[in-house]
Amino acid sequence: MTKTILITGGAGFIGSHVVREFVTKYPDCHIINLDALTYAGNLENLKDIEHRANYTFVKADIRADSAVQAIFQQYQPDGVIHLAAESHVDRSITDPTAFVMTNVIGTVNLLNAAKELWKNNYEGKRFHHVSTDEVYGALGDTGLFTEETSYDPHSPYSASKASSDHFVRAYQDTYGLPVVITNCSNNYGPNHFPEKLIPLCIHNILNNRPLPIYGDGKYTRDWLYVVDHAKAIDLVFHGGKNGESYNVGGFNEWQNIDLVKELCKQMDEKLGRPAGTAAQLITFVKDRPGHDLRYAIDATKINQELGYRPSVTFEQGLSITIDWYLNNQEWLDNVTSGDYQRYYEKQYE
Ligand code: NAD
Ligand code: TYD
Repeated sequence: MTKTILITGGAGFIGSHVVREFVTKYPDCHIINLDALTYAGNLENLKDIEHRANYTFVKADIRADSAVQAIFQQYQPDGVIHLAAESHVDRSITDPTAFVMTNVIGTVNLLNAAKELWKNNYEGKRFHHVSTDEVYGALGDTGLFTEETSYDPHSPYSASKASSDHFVRAYQDTYGLPVVITNCSNNYGPNHFPEKLIPLCIHNILNNRPLPIYGDGKYTRDWLYVVDHAKAIDLVFHGGKNGESYNVGGFNEWQNIDLVKELCKQMDEKLGRPAGTAAQLITFVKDRPGHDLRYAIDATKINQELGYRPSVTFEQGLSITIDWYLNNQEWLDNVTSGDYQRYYEKQYE
């Protein structure tokens, strides 16, 4: 093996696509997937590649400093791609401390372990921190987030991610640690946990349950197919400049209500139901506190410097995504039993 790359959060939604991309594209690299397997982590997401010779799974919690140090000493990674996080805004509103512990303390533990292992010899080393556009706060009806936009997080989730980004930059400035950061817009695709808008609506349409739309549904997000995010991470990990941030987006803004209507249309067609069936389930519910009006990414930098461009249109990506959920209803059934039911009742009923 020429290199060892440690990917954190590789059993989650985006992390599993990043692990697959790296394991299959770089057979000479040893890919270590470090994940605590929280409610959001699922090794089923990696069934197709788990027996590859260049793949190792390690169950560990990034909040545990000594465990993280020991894993770095055992596997001696040359690179880190850090995705492990608590990732759902609504959960951050009910339990902010959990987000500080994993997203802030966990990130600092990883930075310390990388600094200790690499001991100021940073040749060929890189710490890639995967972050979100939510650190920039909310846009009005116009404008885009650039890499120069000031941080202005509003939710406990985005505040914890902003804090972790600041720590990553501080380790570059203070210790010279070679870091890159990507700030990406909303992802969608296979293996997305059904607490987030798109998979939650797919699951509810299949079960004839209400589709909860917060507030007036005019909130706007920029949606990117998850495999395109994984490809962007590959581009930045290998070609980005140390100390730089790169915004990643889908050039694809949708108001929530329009997106859910498009989803309903495609679901009716695929399920052979009369047009308008799923849309009858749309239900406006109490708004999320501190709800950010609009996110939209200016991805000029990653496009011009690294040639990034999404590979699928939203209609194509959404169609692939729905097909995946229809063909993997067992996956949905498994992740929506037990704890999920309790979460759902508390959040919506
Ligand atoms: P996810 O919630 O689906 O997965 C998170 C993964 O991290 C899970 O496998 C979980 O088991 C693991 N994890 C959580 N706490 C851990 C801990 N203490 N120690 C070790 N592992 C732990 O999240 P996701 O949607 O795949 O997001 C991945 C990363 O990308 C996050 O850092 C998130 O902030 C960022 N991001 C997400 C989006 C999005 O739209 N989902 C957009 C931009 C950036
Ligand atoms: P979500 O998928 O939670 O992602 P994020 O909050 O990180 O952008 O939510 C996407 C949008 O959908 C956001 O504006 C909140 C809204 N939303 C609903 O209207 N209803 C829901 O049940 C959920 C989960 C989200």
